[in-house]
Amino acid sequence: MINRKTLLELGWILPSIAIPVGMLVAVIVSAFGMMIHVPADAGTIQPAAIDSTPPFDQPGELRQVGPNEYEIALVAQIWVFNPREIRVPANSRVTFVATSRDVIHGLHIEGTNVNVMLIPGRITRQTAVFREPGEYRFVCHEYCGSGHHLMFGSVIVEET
Ligand code: CUA
Repeated sequence: MINRKTLLELGWILPSIAIPVGMLVAVIVSAFGMMIHVPADAGTIQPAAIDSTPPFDQPGELRQVGPNEYEIALVAQIWVFNPREIRVPANSRVTFVATSRDVIHGLHIEGTNVNVMLIPGRITRQTAVFREPGEYRFVCHEYCGSGHHLMFGSVIVEET
């Protein structure tokens, strides 16, 4: 016979098992089912050698790497993104290969999964799919000094 006290204890014990199990399931589904991962380490680079190291020697140049697939190098520095404007065709998959020349910056592109840190000496790679034509603004979202608020730009997705 289950008495009131046992019910009360079960009322605490069962959720305290169910909640971590639910979280574990959410982690497994998002990692292996939805393939959501933190950006992988994409290599290192000497900040002083950025201008002579591909692909950063040609920042902003959209390179086609497959059907509807592009790559673009982006350099952040105080207090500007190079390039400031990126034009890509609609329905394209774009990989941003980015780094910082000086201090830690961030790159967040609105309406996409691009939300990364740009660390001097480190290369960051993140891929986004742009389906709808339009303007997707991006900002630096790591406070990087007095001109932090000036670091913005846009990805312009053009009708094909
Ligand atoms: Cu760059 Cu804030």
